Amino acid sequence: MTRTLLILDPDAQRYARRVAEAGVAGLRVLQSSDAGALPDGFHAAEIVLGPPQWIAPVLPCLRSLRWVQSTWAGVEPLLQPTGRRDYLLSGVKGIFGSQMAEYVLCYMLMHQQRALQRLDAQRARRWDKITSEPLADREVVILGTGSIGREIARRCVQCGMRTCGVNRGGENPGPFSRVMPASTLVEAASMADFLVMALPGTTATRHLVDRRVIAALPTHAVLINVGRGNTLDTRALAAALAAGRLGGAVLDVLEQEPPAPDDPLWQTPGLLITAHVSAVSHVQEIAPLFLDNLRRYLSGDRPLHLVDFQRGY
Ligand SMILES: NC(=O)c1ccc[n+]([C@@H]2O[C@H](COP(=O)([O-])OP(=O)(O)OC[C@H]3O[C@@H](n4cnc5c(N)ncnc54)[C@H](OP(=O)(O)O)[C@@H]3O)[C@@H](O)[C@H]2O)c1
Repeated sequence: MTRTLLILDPDAQRYARRVAEAGVAGLRVLQSSDAGALPDGFHAAEIVLGPPQWIAPVLPCLRSLRWVQSTWAGVEPLLQPTGRRDYLLSGVKGIFGSQMAEYVLCYMLMHQQRALQRLDAQRARRWDKITSEPLADREVVILGTGSIGREIARRCVQCGMRTCGVNRGGENPGPFSRVMPASTLVEAASMADFLVMALPGTTATRHLVDRRVIAALPTHAVLINVGRGNTLDTRALAAALAAGRLGGAVLDVLEQEPPAPDDPLWQTPGLLITAHVSAVSHVQEIAPLFLDNLRRYLSGDRPLHLVDFQRGY
C-alpha cells in the first residue's frame, strides 16, 4: 500500500531529500515550500510534516489524514476548539533545549556581569569599575519542567545555581533541586533571583504569571520568558518594571508578536525584547526526529512526542 506524505514547509525540498535518502518504501512524497501553493494530489495526504500555522488551514481538506509531525515546538494553531482532533499530532522534543538554555544563560550572565552598563560606560568614555555578581548560589525558578525547562535547569546546575522547578503537580523529573506545584507559584516566585518561564500556551497557562506572582518576586529578580507570550501578564510586568519593582526582564515571546511600533513595551525600562528567536527549527535536527517517528508510524507503532489535544501540549 502506498502512503502519501505531504511536506509543507519553507524547507520542504531539504526534508524531501532526507526522506528520499532514508529510502522509506511505499511512500509517495508531495512537497511545497509555499503555503499558498499546494501540490497536486495533496488531498490524499495521510501524513503531514510542517509548521502548525501552515498545516492548520489545509486540515479540513485532508480526508485520509492520520498523523501530523510538527516542525515547531508550539502547536497552538492546531489546537483550536473547533479544529479536527481525529489524527495523531507529534510535537518536537529534546531539540530546542540546548539553544534555549544558551539564550537564558546569556541574559542571566549579561545581567550578573552588568554587561549593558559596562557598554554604556565605554560609549560614554567612562572608566567605571562596574563590578559583577556570580550566578553560583542564586536561585532560579523554572516554570515548566518539560524538555526545555529540564535542559535550562541542567545548565544552571552546572553554573552552581539552585534550581526550583514548577509544574502542575510538583513531581520532580530531575535535575531540579526541588519542584513545586503551580498552586504554590506565588511562594516559589518569592524565592527567585531569576524566574524563567518555559511553558506551552494553553487555556490553563494563560497569565499564569499574573500581577500577584510578579508582585511576589524580589525587587532584584529578573524574569525571562522563552515559552509563550500569553502565559505572562505583560502589562503587569511592564508596570512593575516602570515602577522599579523588578531587577529586569527578557521576553523572547510576547502576547502580540511583533508589538505595534507605538507599543510602550519597546521603551519599558529594564525590559529586553527579542523576536521569538531563542530556538529555531533546523532541518538537520528535525529530520532525524521525523524519520525515526516515520519508521515507528509505518511499522504500526505510535509516533513519539504526541500532543494531548485535551491538555493542549
Ligand atoms: N521561544 C521559542 O522560540 C520557543 C521554542 C521552542 C519551544 N517554545 C515553547 O516552549 C514550550 C515548552 O516546551 P517543552 O518542550 O519544554 O514542553 P513540554 O515538554 O511539553 O513541557 C511543558 C511543561 O509545562 C508544564 N505545564 C503545562 N501546563 C502547566 C500549568 N497549567 N501549570 C504549570 N505547569 C504547566 C508541564 O507540566 P507537567 O510536567 O505537570 O505536565 C511541563 O512541565 C513549548 O510548548 C513552546 O510553546 C518556545
